[in-house]
Amino acid sequence: MNRKYRKTVIAGNWKMNMLASEIKPFMEELKANLPKARTCEMVLCVPGVMVPAMVKAGKDCKVAAGGEDVSCFEKGAYTGEVSASQLADVGAKYCIVGHSERRQYHGEDDMLVNAKARALLDKGIMPIICVGESLEQRESNLTMEYVAYQVKAALSGIDASQLRRCVIAYEPIWAIGTGKTATAEQAQEVCEGIRAVIRGIYGARPARAVSILYGGSMNAKNAYELLAQPDIDGGLIGGASLKPVDFATIIKATDQG
Ligand code: 13P
Repeated sequence: MNRKYRKTVIAGNWKMNMLASEIKPFMEELKANLPKARTCEMVLCVPGVMVPAMVKAGKDCKVAAGGEDVSCFEKGAYTGEVSASQLADVGAKYCIVGHSERRQYHGEDDMLVNAKARALLDKGIMPIICVGESLEQRESNLTMEYVAYQVKAALSGIDASQLRRCVIAYEPIWAIGTGKTATAEQAQEVCEGIRAVIRGIYGARPARAVSILYGGSMNAKNAYELLAQPDIDGGLIGGASLKPVDFATIIKATDQG
């Protein structure tokens, strides 16, 4: 983290877990375990249908609500889709785009991820843009090349003032839901590389200001070391964000003096 230049963000991704009716008890337990001093921005990204309940329950302890996906279209005959304006209208402040599970199970490509990020920015929602390599790519030493390509594609047509409202999340696919975390060195190396790619496009200042998160089996035990890395500005957390005490512990790990 480097709080002098950028904000620290701890974002949960509930994926397709939990029920709207479980949000209130979750938030009560989270609140009871949160530190008094705020050292990060707290976000919980939930299925679209649960966003209103999260907005309401999150107010008390200042947890922002986010979506997990959005349509790239503005409005119209797109049955089943949820638009950026609809998310904004119910109070979402963030939305994940380009998660590897969407890329894998729904065939989302980099152009679509870019279109979704731009749709969100147009409506004042901050996109959390996910990138990350597969195990095969890592083992073939293609990690940085591939991640750099994803970052450039996702940011295509986004100007420096819009970049200030984007968050990047580095999530190596092999670390998601596997219990196999990237080492702090591996995660730092790629996050630093992502910042260098952004510096190449936008220059030093915007690159210094963008928050880059790590995601992939981040938990209450490994969060402190990961967050101690200079280019890791927070976490995008799946499994551990479903447990209020663990999520609170990760939030506390952002308090590093
Ligand atoms: P886990 O923390 O369960 O590995 O999930 C990470 C993730 O995919 C967050 O978007």
